[in-house]
Amino acid sequence: VRKYIPTFDAHFPDEDRTAAIQHLLQSNYWTSDKKVDKFERKFSARLGRSFATMTNSGSSALLAAIYAMGWKPGDRIITPAVTFPTAISPLLWFGLVPVLVDVDDTLNIDPQKMEDSIKAVGGVEGAVIPHTLGNPVDPQVWDFFSRAVEDCCDALGSTINGQQCGTFGTVSCFSFYPAHHITTIEGGMAVSRSSAMAEQIRQFVNWGRACWCRPGSDNSCGKRHESVVDGIPWDHKYEFVSAGGNFKPGFDIQGLIGLRQLDREEEYRERRGKNHATITKAIEPASDLIRTVVSLPGSHPNWFGYPIGLAKQDRKEVIANLEQAGVGTRLIFGGNMGRHRFLDGRFIAPIALTKSDEVMRGWFVVACNHTVSLEEAQYIGDTVRWAVTG
Ligand SMILES: Cc1ncc(COP(=O)(O)O)c(C=O)c1O
Repeated sequence: VRKYIPTFDAHFPDEDRTAAIQHLLQSNYWTSDKKVDKFERKFSARLGRSFATMTNSGSSALLAAIYAMGWKPGDRIITPAVTFPTAISPLLWFGLVPVLVDVDDTLNIDPQKMEDSIKAVGGVEGAVIPHTLGNPVDPQVWDFFSRAVEDCCDALGSTINGQQCGTFGTVSCFSFYPAHHITTIEGGMAVSRSSAMAEQIRQFVNWGRACWCRPGSDNSCGKRHESVVDGIPWDHKYEFVSAGGNFKPGFDIQGLIGLRQLDREEEYRERRGKNHATITKAIEPASDLIRTVVSLPGSHPNWFGYPIGLAKQDRKEVIANLEQAGVGTRLIFGGNMGRHRFLDGRFIAPIALTKSDEVMRGWFVVACNHTVSLEEAQYIGDTVRWAVTG
């Protein structure tokens, strides 16, 4: 058992490091190239979706996805109060109005409160919805929207009723930051089944240009000099069709690392599942003091972390004792996002965010990730039980 078990951690073995260095030594052009292409193809195939665009982070994937939705300033967009900040900030940048909805015992958006909130505001244009900590959202939720962004940053490998998270949204976004199910150091992916949507995303992350050549290559379309801009013969490579930015992955080695990590994803998932089950068993005797998350029937979460809710005890004290004993802790995103300064006066919440407040006051997360051994999972569970029972 390690002296300190971080809540989130990456498995980045020597063979991945060596392969990355070899790739750097062999290439003249380090930015995104063939390995990123291959990773995009493998990732979309893994989800059974036609298109995937790699970005420099999950946040950039969310930004690009929200851009591609084509929502107009003033449009109301549903999102749960318990979510990651960068799933909300782009809404503000595009002049959209977040409609915050409370979560339920799954820690995901509450479907009934969502429906009531939509009615209360007289309709919405779409949604941005995460699967909190890998726990799949009720599939019926997606039926309410013609366009919705699915935040799967914590949910690679989770399924519900046999359907993968990452196949519910109009666009589904992933993060490969080291805390996540697989890592590319930093990185993200926006996945969709619509070529029009994928094209918008690709253009947005590539400086807004029409051309789809990778950096360092030219004329992949074979028609580079046949382009015309406002009647002037022009170079397709410099034809700008979207108010984009540069959100591309920085290095081709990120693609290479992603390919290798994806090969191990199943093995990682199995370990997370076993760790989760071990912790569940260890804390069971303290079930009157600990609240755990409800998963919907038919769901198989690939747990991002192990969420613990305290029924009575002071969280600060419990966390201090856990940290002292070497069990790393994290809070759940920002708790109730409506309470954070960046959203001051910039959202609507037609229904009280009661459960989100409970998450903010009394919940935290411990590790069950794939770097945790079974012995460590047992230690985490036993230590949590000890910390709450005193
Ligand atoms: C649910 C969720 N969405 C979005 C993000 C943002 O991803 P990134 O850190 O790659 O920008 C995170 C990050 O951890 C996340 O947990």
